[in-house]
Parts: sequence; structure tokens; C-alpha cells
Amino acid sequence: SMDPSTIIRPLLDWYAKHKRDLPWRQGVTPYRVWLSEIMLQQTTVPAVIPYFAKFTEKYPRIEDLALAPTEDVMHDWAGLGYYSRARNLHAAAKAVAANGGTFPADLRSLPGVGEYTAGAITAIAYNRKAVVVDGNVDRVVARLYAIETPLPAAKPAIKARAEAIYMDAANTEPAQLPQAFMDLGATVCTPQNPKCGVCPLADVCEARAKGLQNTLPKKLKAKDRPKRIGWVYWIENTKGEQLLHRRPAKGLLGGMAGLPTSAWVDGKDLPAHVFEGANDTGHSVRHVFTHFELTLRVATASVAKAEADYFWGTAKNGGMPSVFKKVSNLM
Ligand code: ADE
Ligand code: SF4
Repeated sequence: SMDPSTIIRPLLDWYAKHKRDLPWRQGVTPYRVWLSEIMLQQTTVPAVIPYFAKFTEKYPRIEDLALAPTEDVMHDWAGLGYYSRARNLHAAAKAVAANGGTFPADLRSLPGVGEYTAGAITAIAYNRKAVVVDGNVDRVVARLYAIETPLPAAKPAIKARAEAIYMDAANTEPAQLPQAFMDLGATVCTPQNPKCGVCPLADVCEARAKGLQNTLPKKLKAKDRPKRIGWVYWIENTKGEQLLHRRPAKGLLGGMAGLPTSAWVDGKDLPAHVFEGANDTGHSVRHVFTHFELTLRVATASVAKAEADYFWGTAKNGGMPSVFKKVSNLM
């Protein structure tokens, strides 16, 4: 099968001409690369750009992030989702700051840094050869080698091919190669209708030769997400403030401030109210999480005072997870 060097040279040449102008590609430091990679886990490039700008302006050094109150970091992260990433980000910043601001040799010792992220930082920030395989690389490599096994079963075969490419002697630009794959996957070798006509790898691509570029990679059908349901409460005081709730640190949306809710239950039947005398508004919001789909029906109630983890605040100020923003947009 094809020699990795026949892929690497045209790909690096293409990247030099066509790379995307992304903010974390300017002033490359381990801190900026790490921050961007954590933000890019499970989130698209356009969604990350404004958050990356906000964080690097407010926290120019990793020590600034380490010293920030957790509530501030969670508030600044709000809207990016997957809040365990924000908690891990803050914990990792503290660990690096305690180490004099230097990232550890074993990057995977940092909270939130797994195999992919460690590889990306090693290559992009330190310009050292590493195997960096994300969803874009999976797709491009599966097509280049016409791997017909469906994902995720094809992952080991894809990774072996990717490793041979990344570790090849022709990889003279370790920082550029993974980013070249990512950009090719994002702009040319796209999930639908790949633009083989402008692809620098068209001559060597086995999927293209076999006419399989639109059918690979094959995927096992994602199972339908289970549906959960619950109440969300819009409770105002005489000052026009809303009752808010600091959620427990563990679990989905853990540590985030948001509107109060009942438990979220499986199925179609709403659980009992947690506030006495609550009134159904008839409005509801729907939000899709990774492992389930949540519908929250909006109720009003009156509450004399905010106790325990509840407090009065302004829901419309932002800083809450998207599911609650959907509610405040309705009210
Ligand atoms: N997705 C994840 N990491 C990325 C990077 N460094 N550049 C572009 N897209 C990415
Ligand atoms: Fe992807 Fe087409 Fe290029 Fe093959 S030739 S890598 S399928 S864009």
C-alpha cells in the first residue's frame, strides 16, 4: 500500500498555502495550545473562537487562570457545555501554576488531558512527533486507505495507519502535520460531498480511486437518545430577580448556577413539583445532551426566601448553561 511520504509532502505543501487563520495559531505557547484543545473537545471551531478570545484576554497567563475563583471560570465557560471540562481546566491550571508555570513532562497527569490532547500539545506546542487522531483524521485516513470496517471498530486500523504517517521520517514538521489533517478534514475532505477535485491527496486516495469517498467511513447507527423530562422554575421576587440554584459539584452541569429544576426522569410523565403551589406555564424547552434529550416544562411559583443552595439573581445576565438560557429567552 501507499508509502506515507506520498501523503505527507503534498499535505504539508497544501497546508502552507491553505491553513485556516485561527487565533490559537498565533503566538503559540503550551498554555494557548492546551486551552484551545480543551475548548475544542466536543465543540466546533466557530463556537470556540469567542471563548478563546475571552479567556486569553482575561487570563493571559496560566497563573491568572489558576488564581481566578472557580465561580468566575464556570461563568466564563457557560455556553460551551460539558462543564467537567471547565472544572478540569481550572484544576490543571492550578497544577501547572504550582509547578512554576511549566507543563509537566507527562501531560496526561493533568486533569482533562487524555491521549488525544496530550498528543496534540506535544506536536503543536513542542513540535515533537506525536500520533494525533481526532474525528477529522479518522475520516481522512479511513478514506485514504479505503478502510471499509465501520466506526468505531475501524479505530485501531485507522490509528495504525495514522501512526505510520506521523512517525515517518518524511514528517519534518511535527507541529504542522496534525493541523494539516484537521484542516483538510474540515475544509476539503468534509463528511458530506468531499471536494476531491481540489484535494492535494486525490492522486493517492484509495477511496477516490474506488468511488467510495461518499460512503466511507461507514458508521454504526447512533442509538436513539433516551428522553428525560422535568420541571424548571421561573420564580421572581418583588425586585424582579429570579430564584437561582447552585448545582452540586458532581454530575451533569455540576457546579453551575442555573434555574431551579425538579429531578429529570426517564419517560413521558412529569415528576412531582419541588415548590408548593407551582403553576404550569405551558411553555417548555428542549435540550440535547450527549446521552439523552431533555424536555423541561416551565412553571412559576412563589418563594418567600432563598435557602441553602438557592439565591436571588438575574437569569438574563448570562453565565448559565444553554438549557437555562432557553428558558430565560422565553420569559
Ligand atoms: N480541532 C482540534 N484541535 C484543532 C486545532 N489545533 N486546529 C483546528 N481544529 C482543531
Ligand atoms: Fe478525501 Fe477526496 Fe481527498 Fe480522498 S481525494 S482524501 S476522499 S477529499
